[in-house]
Amino acid sequence: MKTQYYTATSLDGFIADAENSLDWLFQFGEPENGSYSNFIREVSAIAMGATTYEWILNHPSDDNSNPVWTYEQPAWVFTSRSLPTIPGADIKFVKGDVRPVHQEMSAAAGDKNIWLVGGGDLVGQFYDHGLLDEIIVQITSVTLGSGAPLLPRRIVTPPLKLLSATVYGHAFAELRYQVFPPE
Ligand SMILES: NC(=O)c1ccc[n+]([C@@H]2O[C@H](COP(=O)([O-])OP(=O)(O)OC[C@H]3O[C@@H](n4cnc5c(N)ncnc54)[C@H](OP(=O)(O)O)[C@@H]3O)[C@@H](O)[C@H]2O)c1
Repeated sequence: MKTQYYTATSLDGFIADAENSLDWLFQFGEPENGSYSNFIREVSAIAMGATTYEWILNHPSDDNSNPVWTYEQPAWVFTSRSLPTIPGADIKFVKGDVRPVHQEMSAAAGDKNIWLVGGGDLVGQFYDHGLLDEIIVQITSVTLGSGAPLLPRRIVTPPLKLLSATVYGHAFAELRYQVFPPE
């Protein structure tokens, strides 16, 4: 079981632009033979922050203008507020220390992986406690100048270990890193 941060990022390290838009990413569509289907097959629990969850709430994409929840796995949404639920979605709203939540997620995940969807600071909170095993980023061929940072932490010693680099057409380079606990 691994805890993985899987996300697309701009070349200059932002996962959303300053308006929390992902239009820069969606212009490319899904990469041909991309890694997502193999990745999500091995995921049994997911976590995200409130802004990411609100993005889903605010971007309804079915005919009835309801938010579309595409995840079959149980999800933990970190928030200090009371946010609306999505009918049919298995969501727990949690706050504070990520460690007990990670324990609960690990129990639910069994042998499979935990996906930290984002944002970057929430992933950083897991990293701070040595609870992040891998970063898998699709570096997208755009720069944004500002926005939501990929991972606002200083990770220098020990450094990340680059495990693979894969090119998807002209739009994406996917890098996979092993993460070691902070010293
Ligand atoms: N490029 C991609 O593939 C990708 C992937 C994921 C996300 N995104 C986008 O990137 C942006 C990320 O936004 P973001 O950086 O603001 O991050 P976020 O993690 O989605 O949301 C941050 C919020 O989560 C809550 N939170 C975080 N840690 C908490 C804790 N320990 N306890 C309680 N609440 C906690 C707080 O909300 P409260 O105000 O409720 O306290 C905080 O303001 C979004 O626009 C999202 O759509 C892009």
